[in-house]
Amino acid sequence: MAETDDGGSLLAISDLHVGYPENRSIVEGLRPRTPKDWLLVAGDVGDTVADVEWALRLLTGRFARVVWSPGNHELWTPPGDPVTLRGVARYAHLVELCRELGVVTPEDPYPVWEGPGGPVTVAPLMLLYDHSWRPDGFDTPEAALAEAYRTGIVCTDEVLLHPDPYESRSAWCAARVAETARRLAERDPALPTVLMNHWPLVRDVTRVLRYPIFAQWCGTDATADWHVRFAAAAAVYGHLHIPRTTWHDGVRFEEVSVGYPREWRTRRVPPGRLRQILPPPDGVPPTAW
Ligand SMILES: [Fe+2]
Ligand SMILES: [Fe+2]
Repeated sequence: MAETDDGGSLLAISDLHVGYPENRSIVEGLRPRTPKDWLLVAGDVGDTVADVEWALRLLTGRFARVVWSPGNHELWTPPGDPVTLRGVARYAHLVELCRELGVVTPEDPYPVWEGPGGPVTVAPLMLLYDHSWRPDGFDTPEAALAEAYRTGIVCTDEVLLHPDPYESRSAWCAARVAETARRLAERDPALPTVLMNHWPLVRDVTRVLRYPIFAQWCGTDATADWHVRFAAAAAVYGHLHIPRTTWHDGVRFEEVSVGYPREWRTRRVPPGRLRQILPPPDGVPPTAW
């Protein structure tokens, strides 16, 4: 890792899934390296509002700033959660909770990271997916979904992620994409960005999915050029539970998930390591814009 002295680092993690006791222990062990470190949390903190609050409250007590984007799990209305809000109302409730905790959300002005590797506009996004990442030969969302049911690879979102008051999650996604593109176009054009979205912005990174048909719940073609269009120094995402670094059009994409215990137990790298986004780690060339 690049030495940052006391200037701090912009760090990232996602898919904490703190409903699992083992994952809760990982979160309890997350600590900044310096008092100036920021933490980007790219969604799937937990399934219940209480779990999300527990984790974000703990992290805001430790990091200089915490920035959050929701994952599909935060947007679920799971049985057993006393908070029964659905869709947009549930998201709004989580945003209010974050504001009480001092956590930056996609609904707030985008903060500027002024530390090493900056200045950079940090943009947490909430974009969902629209079933445009369909397998070859399936020309409509309906056909792709039918094939998913036929093969038994169906995202639980179909049952628990309600789009209310939108007609569909795809319609909610379209509204989010339009509004977010407008906001990003209004940012300070002199600064590069760090774009954080739970779902990846480019389809390429889903090619390594064990079940490629699952990609229909992973993103949208509408963001395919956003890392270029909005001058990203890095794009941060999770959701796939395949932590790695890839490059697309010269932009570094960081999948920063912890994932489920059954997943991280099989990895050689211990879980819960914070990914350094900025300054670029040693040996990683900065993206030039
Ligand atoms: Fe996840
Ligand atoms: Fe997810």
